[in-house]
Amino acid sequence: MHYPWWYVPQLTAPMLIAVISVVHVLVSHYAVGGGLFLAVEVGYAYRARDRKYLDYLRGHAAFFVLLTVVFGAVTGVGIWWTIGLSSPLATEVLIRTFVFGWATEWVFFFVELLAAFIFLYYWGRLSEKKHLAIGWIYAVAAWGSLVLITGITAFMLNPGRWAIDPAARNFWVAFFNPQFVPQTVTRTGGALLLSSLYVYLHASIFAREARLRNLISARSARPALLGAVMITAGGLAWYAFLPDSARATLASSAVMNVFAGVLIASTLVVFAMLYLGPYLNPGWLSPGFAGLLCLFGIAAFGAGEFIREAIRKPFVIYNVVLSNQVLPDEVTELRAGGYLQKGVWTRAFVAERYPETLADGRIDNKKLLDLPYKDRLVLGEVLFLHHCNDCHAAKRGYSAVGLLFQGRPRERVRERIERLDDNYFMPPWCGTLEEAELLTDYLMTINRSRPAGIHPWMKSGGESRDEYGEMD
Ligand code: HEC
Repeated sequence: MHYPWWYVPQLTAPMLIAVISVVHVLVSHYAVGGGLFLAVEVGYAYRARDRKYLDYLRGHAAFFVLLTVVFGAVTGVGIWWTIGLSSPLATEVLIRTFVFGWATEWVFFFVELLAAFIFLYYWGRLSEKKHLAIGWIYAVAAWGSLVLITGITAFMLNPGRWAIDPAARNFWVAFFNPQFVPQTVTRTGGALLLSSLYVYLHASIFAREARLRNLISARSARPALLGAVMITAGGLAWYAFLPDSARATLASSAVMNVFAGVLIASTLVVFAMLYLGPYLNPGWLSPGFAGLLCLFGIAAFGAGEFIREAIRKPFVIYNVVLSNQVLPDEVTELRAGGYLQKGVWTRAFVAERYPETLADGRIDNKKLLDLPYKDRLVLGEVLFLHHCNDCHAAKRGYSAVGLLFQGRPRERVRERIERLDDNYFMPPWCGTLEEAELLTDYLMTINRSRPAGIHPWMKSGGESRDEYGEMD
């Protein structure tokens, strides 16, 4: 509303964020845990005077730097681009609240990059002590950036007091939100676990000697299991500190049920495989075993991240910014004065295209209904984009309204819009009754007819329920 609309066909813009951030997270956790792995293991190899292991670790470090610095950085910047374009109001609130947190994170990030390059390119040219120190500087800086970014993402799920008490609107309350500790524990555990799984896959392919593979397999088993325990403990605390609506969504949405099932089942499989494999039988580490372990780990992570992104509905930042880029405090005014009137870009659009609807410089809602049908459709589509497209594609695609409303009569569609938040995971209707009419006009053009071949009683759609009123 306060910003222009970024339209992503089929997928919807927020789903693009979900896709990029899931991919990013799969690498960024390795950037943290892998740094710790390299620091600890290079120290061990120096002490044990194990030249072969050092050679392997050098190869691993090259792979690590390439993947985390190039892919991690590109997807990280990708997240900035997509959140700025698709969730501008939420991004604005986050930047205003956390500007110093972000600035500090970039400092950590810079230290990380510098340390990673020195660690790799000065390998063998620095004294062992200095080389190791650089490895630890990397590991600490990487974990520091994890903690900082987690404070910010956790805030979006549950800002706690910050959202309800104006006197508590400061950086520290925002940062130490109720979700901060649970998510920091989960993500630290995730970094330990996921990086161990990548290490296993890499070692199973590139560590030629069986002795080396067994050594790596055995030495990384404990951190990996510790990571799995931390994820479980952090996950339970995460659940305990969820806002009510998020917990309800997790329980009631079929998609969330499925993802939660995938998350729990894959975590159990990873636990069992780690215990039976690397912990009890380090010799099991083959590319097939490590690949399968990695796939289950990635499935658990992907499902977990998807749930984390999806259960905030109807908010992007819980209680602070609604998913359709509206502040909850603005809803009353929007319902009285109109969405098109209050939105900077929508008002400019209407004023330029349909000056006949203005009275004293304001949009007169009654006059909107006098517009020719094709123009009502144009404005209906504008309303759809700004009000629904954050969560629904249009005719087809992700959760498309054309399919959700399939076969519903016009009257029912309009009523549904006016009481949108009957489903608590949708925002309230943020426009006038006239605007609801315009949106209904548009929706009826993308709304499909009922599927063919359905039983005659069902076929008459909405009407049948009126005829058989006693069945309600
Ligand atoms: C915050 C995200 C969000 C916004 C914004 C949103 N919806 Fe929804 N809507 C949902 C979710 C989630 C569902 C459940 C979808 C499912 O079960 O697949 C849903 C379900 C629906 C359904 C099917 C359920 C029913 O009651 O029939 C319709 C129709 C619908 N939305 C229409 C709309 C329209 C029209 C708008 C814009 C005025 C809108 N939604 C805005 C999230 C949203």
